[in-house]
Formats: sequence, C-alpha cells, structure tokens
Amino acid sequence: IPVEDFDLVIFGSTGDLARRKIFPGLYRRFIAGQFPQGAQIIGAARTQQDTAAFRDEMRKAIVEFAGNPGKDAAKVEEFLQRLTYVSVDARGTTGWEELHEHMREGVVHAFYFSVAPALFGDIAQRLSQYGMADDDSRIVVEKPFGRDLVSARELNATLARHFREDQIYRIDHYLGKETVQNLMAVRFANILFEPLWNAQYVDHVQITVAETVGVAGRGEYYDQSGAIRDMVQNHMMQLLCLTAMEPPYHFDPNAVRDEKLKVIRALEPLEPDDIVRGQYLAGPDGPGYVEDVEHPDSRTESFVALKVRISNWRWQGTPFYLRTGKRLRARTSEIVITFKDPPHSIFDDDGVSPANQLVIKLQPNEGMHLTMMIKEPGPGGMRLVQVPLDMSFADALGANGTDMPDAYERLIMDVIRGNQTLFMRGDEVEAAWAWTDPIISGWEQSTRSPEPYDAGSSGPEEALRLLHRDDRRWREIR
Ligand code: BG6
Repeated sequence: IPVEDFDLVIFGSTGDLARRKIFPGLYRRFIAGQFPQGAQIIGAARTQQDTAAFRDEMRKAIVEFAGNPGKDAAKVEEFLQRLTYVSVDARGTTGWEELHEHMREGVVHAFYFSVAPALFGDIAQRLSQYGMADDDSRIVVEKPFGRDLVSARELNATLARHFREDQIYRIDHYLGKETVQNLMAVRFANILFEPLWNAQYVDHVQITVAETVGVAGRGEYYDQSGAIRDMVQNHMMQLLCLTAMEPPYHFDPNAVRDEKLKVIRALEPLEPDDIVRGQYLAGPDGPGYVEDVEHPDSRTESFVALKVRISNWRWQGTPFYLRTGKRLRARTSEIVITFKDPPHSIFDDDGVSPANQLVIKLQPNEGMHLTMMIKEPGPGGMRLVQVPLDMSFADALGANGTDMPDAYERLIMDVIRGNQTLFMRGDEVEAAWAWTDPIISGWEQSTRSPEPYDAGSSGPEEALRLLHRDDRRWREIR
C-alpha cells in the first residue's frame, strides 16, 4: 500500500549509513510499490557534487547492499530518477534556499539527520530559519542520542526549540527488526504465555546480542563509547523493555512507550558485582581490541554482562541477565525465558532438568522454540527427554530469510506514515541514560581493567561466573 506523498531529505547522504542502509532500504520499499507517484528523496551533504554524480554513487550502493532486488538494473534506474542532490552546509548558509525550493507544498516533509549528533542542533535551527520546519514536518535522528543524561537532555531541549515531541523520531533500529516486533505479537496476541510471564513462573531471563565483528574501522567512535553506551543503553534496553513491560492498553505509540518507560524506571541500580566487562584479545583471525582502536591502555569494554533486577510486582525475584559483545563465537541475538521447574515431579527421572525454555531468536534464523519434556520413545519405561518445539519464521511464513525487510525500511516508512510506536520518546531515552550513567561513572572511578577474552569465544570466564554463582548457566552462543 503506498504511503502518503512525501519529500524526504537525508542529511549525511554521502555517509556510510546512508549508503549501506537508508538508500538500499528506500529502494526496496520503492520496488515494493510503497512510493506514491511524486515521492522524492533529496540527498544533502557538504560534498560538492551534482545530482548525476550522487545517483552514480547510490547506484553502486544499491547494487551492493539491496540484496537480490538490487540486480534489476531497470528498476534501479527508475528509482534513481526520484533522487536529487543538494550540497548543504549545516553550519553555514550554503544550500538551504536551494533545498527549500525543492520541497513541494502539501506533501509530508521528513528530514533524516544521518549526521554526527553535534550537528543536530544546527540543522534543526536552519530548518526553522529557512521555513522548512512546518507543523507537520518530521525529523529522524540516529543514535547515539547523547552520551549521558546531561547531553541527552540538552539534545532533547535543542530539538524541542524547533519541533514538537510528536515530530521527533529517535531511531533504535532494533525496534524495526521483524522479530523484535514479533515479541509483542507473541506476548499480547496469544493467551498462552502471558499468564506465565512473571516471577511466579519465570526463573530468569537471558538476553544475548553476540557479534563476530570487531571494532576495526570505527575504533575512534567505539573506544569513546564501549558496549554499555553502544548497545546496552539503547538496543538491549529496548529488548529488555519489550520482554518485561506490562501489556499496553492499545498498540499505540504513547501507550507502548509509557509501558516501556515504567520498566526503565523500575530498574534497580547495579552493584559492581553484577557487572562484568571484557575486552577481546588478538587471535588467529585478527588483532585484539587495543590494536583495533589503536589505544594500548584502553579500558573500554567490548563485552559486557549484567545482572539486572526489575523492582516491580511482576518481576520481583526474577533476574534478567544481559550480555553483548564483539568478536564472539557466533552472531546471534536471542531472548531466552527459562521457566521454573514444576512444583513436584511424579517421575523418578534422573538428571534431565525439566525446565521449559522459550527461546526467541531475533537474528539470524528468526524464529522461536520452546523446549518441552516428553517421554523418550521406546519400551524402556517412563524416561523423560527434552525436545524443542520449533518454529522458524522463514518456514512458517514462507518468507525467504534473506529477503525479510530490513529494520530501516520499516522504520522510514513509519516516519512517513506518522507512526511513532517503534521510536523512542525523549523521556525514555533520558530514563535509560539515568540508569546507565552510574554504571559508567562507577567504572571510570575504579582502577579495574576489563577481563580479557579470546576472540571467537563466548566472552570472559567472569561472565560465566555471574550465572554460576546463582546456580544458572548461559545458553551457549552458537
Ligand atoms: C549498532 C552498533 O547500533 O548496532 C554497532 O553501533 C552494532 O556496534 C550494531 O554492531 C548491531 O546491529 P545489528 O543490526 O547488526 O545487530
């Protein structure tokens, strides 16, 4: 279904995110038939070049990053006709009037700030000054949204000078992932899970986002951030919220975000013992963290594991263990709900732990499985065996896994539709920083070093102990 007619301006259109994600994603929506007749995209950046040169760049980006559809040369050309380029100086006067001239009346105006956060304020201010910030225009801002509570507040205040909250779309691309949205469908469109989704029946929850890549190529940014700022404050926090929140009264932007905010506010401050930081060592496949960031004394974490408690009625006594890291054994993101054992066993079985586990696999191989106890087939008596009840979304929905829509595709179209459900609200981002700030400052004040771990492993030993001491185990990263 086509969306409303729109003019979309991408600031930072020569950058990496634009090339890898934004333009290929827009192209895929274009061929899916979502672009109305007149819809146009205006690339804006400081680079001096004309539209023809910009289209050449984007042609290459689409061929490289849009998957199979990128191979349809005729379609790509058709899409490129929708692109215009304007050279704009975010901090000067160049290009702004020309940009304004390209904007049509009576269509949705969206401005995507795919630039360094230091420029957010300048661009917002220029948009107002040159008359492009109208009542219905929307802005999209990328992470990192600040680097602590103070800077996030400043950023919110700066944007609020020119735009209302309902015009600001703060991207967390994890919310655009199909399976992340599915988490809400699974929880709230089925009767099966919700009655058990609480401390009475759930022993603990594990959320893992493991990556195989290191930080080479973006070391300068990463070394200033570390896993807590780069992944926990945003993506992991969102996964935690969607897993732990109360049912919203409606699938509506503010109803959903209100519930997420309550979870963040209920997070207990962490004790130093509940945090394990790690840093990857050099291995056969590549250099170690400190070499990648070219900072031999760096104490920045490329891995973190946390034991998180949520102080509310539903989750009292059920810990949430979070871990994320670079250069781990496999690329996998999953949420694992481990249910409690049945209160009494009628079988004289040995050994096998009967705990039911619901594994929600976010990527790759999106799907869910539930481990169940059944009787081992055969005449050997009543012996129990654990089996998975499996559902791969690709099989179930006939979707070709590689052609699942990318998070950015979905999110950008939501901006045009004016749907903020999958975007973070200002107060949510601030609350998330308010919780992570003390974790970061506690570390800055300590003299400890991160625990070393081998590239290609599951992270530092200490992270395993975080669960062992509670008599639990991480699900294997594979
Ligand atoms: C980004 C982080 O926001 O998310 C990266 O800055 C990380 O460090 C990436 O690699 C992970 O995203 P995805 O979609 O590949 O899981």
